[in-house]
Amino acid sequence: MAPSATSSPCIASTHEAIGRTLMVGSTGFIGRFIAEASLDCGRPTYLLARSGSMYPSKAKTIKTLQDRGAIIINGSINDQEFMEKLLKDYKIEVVISAVGGENILDQLTLINAIKAVGTIKRFLPSEFGHDIDRADPVEPGLTMYNEKRKVRRLIEESGIPYTYICCNSIAAWPYHDNAHPSEVLPPLDQFQIYGDGSIKAYFVAGTDIGKFTMKSIDDKRTINKSIHFRPSSNCLNINELASLWEKKIKRTLPRITITEEDLLAAAKENCIPQSIVASFTHDIFIKGCQINYPIEGPYDIEVSSLYPDIPFRTVGDCFDDFVVKIIDHPLENVVKIVDKQVADDGITTSNPMVDVRPITATCA
Ligand SMILES: NC(=O)c1ccc[n+]([C@@H]2O[C@H](COP(=O)([O-])OP(=O)(O)OC[C@H]3O[C@@H](n4cnc5c(N)ncnc54)[C@H](OP(=O)(O)O)[C@@H]3O)[C@@H](O)[C@H]2O)c1
Repeated sequence: MAPSATSSPCIASTHEAIGRTLMVGSTGFIGRFIAEASLDCGRPTYLLARSGSMYPSKAKTIKTLQDRGAIIINGSINDQEFMEKLLKDYKIEVVISAVGGENILDQLTLINAIKAVGTIKRFLPSEFGHDIDRADPVEPGLTMYNEKRKVRRLIEESGIPYTYICCNSIAAWPYHDNAHPSEVLPPLDQFQIYGDGSIKAYFVAGTDIGKFTMKSIDDKRTINKSIHFRPSSNCLNINELASLWEKKIKRTLPRITITEEDLLAAAKENCIPQSIVASFTHDIFIKGCQINYPIEGPYDIEVSSLYPDIPFRTVGDCFDDFVVKIIDHPLENVVKIVDKQVADDGITTSNPMVDVRPITATCA
């Protein structure tokens, strides 16, 4: 199938600019932040979108990005011939993939296409989490990491210039059963504290994941390296995270303990994607996978050392965003919501904030 595109008029004049970037997965949770950052920095931005399932939030995201100047190309990365033609026809120089957990291996075909074309200056595979060669989650998270490792090895064997973005956790309450935590409010009824709540992790705003990912693309220092996002201002344990949220909502909430055994049991249930998140939660908050190794050696760089003058949004800033989301019901109403939840004795971690993409859970 030949690639076909619909373009926004405002991008036409920039067609000859260098840095043409193809973004795969821009309708997804992480991909959207990166697509927006690419448009923010004025890059010619091409978005590959699968035409199959079209739910309202996906159509809205595509329309918003297109209105901002993105060029939409319909297709899938697992068609090598199509991808080679696309990369050549649109003279793509940079490819960023943010495909979701269930499609990690689709990238093998994309890598073969990139290798065959031979003109891509940088490829960023779908990483955007932990350093998957160092972290060691239990199953079912391990299977996903093994797939991501397979992708890394093929990139390295193929000689394609790459950057691996290890951005750690997105700034939000780290629910152990939600793959997209920043799409829901932090708790309004009670906190679930993992273990003794003392293991630190890095929480990075989605917009900063996008912004620093785009900065790294043009930076020669990041070629064939893993970029670790460890801003010191954003390193908190879950007890500190809970106290910060309590300050924002001006209310203290009960804390219950989720033990290591509870997390392992949730992982063992093998409900996808929740059990994958439980296995990562165990790796982060029990085993300390984000903090238990130094960043040293020739293949690893901490992002703040690259751009020391550019601040990260703090977790406090990100929590303020959540408060704004509930400000339509002023803070007293949050208290009312909390009171109702406590009265109902219900556990509500599912307090949706935005129109989320549908996720189908499957349990083995
Ligand atoms: N650090 C964190 O806190 C965090 C949190 C979540 C995820 N992540 C990581 O971020 C990455 C992206 O995950 P996500 O949750 O953002 O994914 P997601 O929401 O499931 O979105 C996946 C995107 O990839 C697209 N896609 C999938 N297969 C494709 C194919 N063959 N061809 C073209 N497009 C394809 C999807 O398109 P459709 O719209 O057509 O389905 C969608 O736009 C993963 O590596 C994940 O591990 C990190």
